[in-house]
Amino acid sequence: MVKPTVGAVVLAAGKGTRMKSSRPKVMIPLLEEPILYYPLKALSGVPFLQDIAVIVGWKKEEVESYLRVSWPQVVAITQEQQFGTGHAAQIASSWFSKYDHVVIMPGDVPLVESETLKSLIEEHVEKCSDGTFLAFCPSEVKGYGRVIVLDGKVRIVEEKDATEEEKKVNLANAGIYVFKTESLIKALGEISNNNAQGEYYLTDVIELLSMKGKAVRVKVLEDPSEAKGVNSPSQLIEASETMRVKIIRKHLENGVRCDDFASLWIGPQVIIEPDVRLAPSVQLWGKTFVSCGSEIGSYSVLRNVQVGPKAVVKEHVVLENSSVGEGATVGPFAYVRESSVIEKQAFVGKFVEIKKSKIGRGSKVPHHSYVGDAEVGSNTNIGAGTITCNYDGKKKNKTVIGDNCFIGSDTMLVAPVTIGDGAYTGAGSVITKDVPPGNLAIGRAKQKNIEGWIKRREKRGEEI
Ligand code: UD1
Ligand code: CA
Repeated sequence: MVKPTVGAVVLAAGKGTRMKSSRPKVMIPLLEEPILYYPLKALSGVPFLQDIAVIVGWKKEEVESYLRVSWPQVVAITQEQQFGTGHAAQIASSWFSKYDHVVIMPGDVPLVESETLKSLIEEHVEKCSDGTFLAFCPSEVKGYGRVIVLDGKVRIVEEKDATEEEKKVNLANAGIYVFKTESLIKALGEISNNNAQGEYYLTDVIELLSMKGKAVRVKVLEDPSEAKGVNSPSQLIEASETMRVKIIRKHLENGVRCDDFASLWIGPQVIIEPDVRLAPSVQLWGKTFVSCGSEIGSYSVLRNVQVGPKAVVKEHVVLENSSVGEGATVGPFAYVRESSVIEKQAFVGKFVEIKKSKIGRGSKVPHHSYVGDAEVGSNTNIGAGTITCNYDGKKKNKTVIGDNCFIGSDTMLVAPVTIGDGAYTGAGSVITKDVPPGNLAIGRAKQKNIEGWIKRREKRGEEI
């Protein structure tokens, strides 16, 4: 038998009025990824799903540009005016008509798992259904469509259209469906907007199919939290908390140790190897990768950072789009950003900012320094208070420091400037010219001691 083809449509054109945000709802971050990331990730994990399309509409530019950058294989379909979920499906029908079956799901249900979607599709295909959808028993049913099963017929009634009796039903529509494409297209031609919201409801398709004696199945979710919708800021924080706990548990199972569950924040794309220790109040975001045996200290925030094995990130460190090599130490109180590379065994210490720079193997920047647009070789020591003066008011200039150098405390390295291998600079120097390898450079006013100065002043009766 030829395997049936399956496409998926994510509905994301709505304004998300209840969120009261100026941004499209699906672009609002949940653990620092747009809400839309989650349904797309869940769908991408379904092995036999061919293609995914997203319905965009309200402020579509922001959604489209996110899709272009992060999901280039996903198709965007525009719904100019948002006349309801059924209308959105009608607009998508020319795209999904090429598949035997189509999954339709909302962009604002971030907690659903790939495994759940996979078994929903499998069951639908195996049982030759015309439509199969997910239902759940939430702790708070208010706001969801109610699933009414009566005399073998199924229908979904929206909260705003429900009678008092129907509102008491605790079985909610998750908004996630799989349809036989042919059956869906026919039914979509028959829905009307004769309801409390004046919208074309996708939910009406279920009733239409069921009334016609087509095979409609309801699959009730074992874990109702998977179907939590995000319509308001309070539902956003609820979903975020459920997702946060889910992510941390997954890492704990993999051998990551954390001291305080409650204050730990880990984004969905973060990878952590076993035997890593995370102190209280750590935040790991984006595509951060932490290798085995490393430690991340309290109040440190890592965003798109690669941490090598056995590295130590101490307390209060902010690392962004950078990497920390094997056995290196950073912090406390350091800020490392913009593609900086802290190589193996290097040390970046207290109150140090590193920007777009490489700190070579075994080199040290222990205290109060700014290193920007610089390349530091291996086993070099950068004294306290050293600054790369990288900006001349117009452009950024490069500082190159070789291997085995000793940069005296409070050296100003006026870039562009190169310090050769093994060179030294005297403390307090302003270095404006290149220093050849092995030289000592001193660029400061010569010290003058004035003999007897204090005594002479006392004689004049001046106060000291
Ligand atoms: C919908 C269901 C409801 C279900 C709930 C589950 C309908 C009529 N109701 O209600 O039964 O319990 O989801 O979470 O389907 N959208 C478009 N175009 C539009 C309108 C909406 O793309 O014209 C998108 C929205 O951006 C959103 C999704 O469809 O991502 C769902 O719309 P929303 O208004 O949130 O529906 P609910 O009221 O939550
Ligand atoms: Ca919703």
